[in-house]
Amino acid sequence: MRQAGRALPEYREARRHGSILDSIRDPALAAEITLQPVRRYGVDAAILFSDIVVPVEALGFGVDIRPGVGPVVERPFASESDLARLRPLEPEADIPYVLETIRILRHELTAVPLIGFAGAPFTVASYLVEGGPSRDHARTKALMWGRPDLWATLLERLADVAVATLRAQVEAGAQAVQLFDSWVGALSPADYRRHVLPASARVLEGVADLGVPRIHFGVGTGELLELMAEAGADVVGVDWRVPLDRARARLGDGVAVQGNLDPVSVLAGWEVVRVRADEIVEQGGGRGHIFNLGHGVLPDSDPGVLTALVDHVHSGGAVA
Ligand code: CP3
Repeated sequence: MRQAGRALPEYREARRHGSILDSIRDPALAAEITLQPVRRYGVDAAILFSDIVVPVEALGFGVDIRPGVGPVVERPFASESDLARLRPLEPEADIPYVLETIRILRHELTAVPLIGFAGAPFTVASYLVEGGPSRDHARTKALMWGRPDLWATLLERLADVAVATLRAQVEAGAQAVQLFDSWVGALSPADYRRHVLPASARVLEGVADLGVPRIHFGVGTGELLELMAEAGADVVGVDWRVPLDRARARLGDGVAVQGNLDPVSVLAGWEVVRVRADEIVEQGGGRGHIFNLGHGVLPDSDPGVLTALVDHVHSGGAVA
């Protein structure tokens, strides 16, 4: 459950002061925030408290995370000269606090594994090029189509940043990795194959020898699922738009599926969530399914509903 902690009063209390980046730079606090949803809900894995823009921020690209907005970039990526602002990441020097958080967590987490993560090249590029969150990804697509060579170089650099990030996280103790390509659903399959798949495959291939499961996540990616698996994933995230049995039929037996409760359903109350969760458990099948809320928990979610959901899924739902 990504961002599971956002709905919790103990999260708001812990995050009271300063920017989220300050909390991420404080290993004791970041470890504590990572543990909060595990303690409260009894979920089966912990997801590291960090953010997909942390590595590029650490490189000095000039990224901030604004509450209620998301990542914003002071001077967006626009031309060749901006490539100089993306040197290779040296994790021990650039993001030591993330690695320290992981080391603390591996000491504290005894019952469940820790999932590390990185932003996928396309989604990180979209923030760097747009300068912030975007509805239509206009500048990103214009660069991708208008300057395909520059685009490919940008994505290759960001792929190398993601590989360095994930390798360092696993060496520090992360037991699975998730590659977040949240906004890639904006692309057609042909554009994904030509302009994105090579860079995402470079990331997933770059961590293949580590022997940890690789989860590949996107939103609105119903038409891209097979290509996301082809990029080299062991698990493919599926959002609520695609029934899991249909996703499985498209993906075959080689990969597991992750998903796919609509996070908004939690706001409609337990009865709605229970019925939907039962359908998902049934459609996901007994093997190779990680139940989650796809895009994450909305801040107004009722922790009581989420606790009931975790218990219900653990008991096998209505199909036990
Ligand atoms: O559960 C967790 O807390 C895990 C840590 C985590 C965060 N961001 C912390 C965070 C993870 C895995 C992410 C990934 C992330 N960040 C993604 C990929 C996953 C997805 O949501 O699709 C993306 C696109 C981002 C960029 C980003 N950071 C956005 C869009 C936002 C939301 C802005 C808002 O306030 O609505 C953030 C901020 C952010 N990162 C929050 C958290 C818990 C919430 C705000 C805060 O506490 O300041």
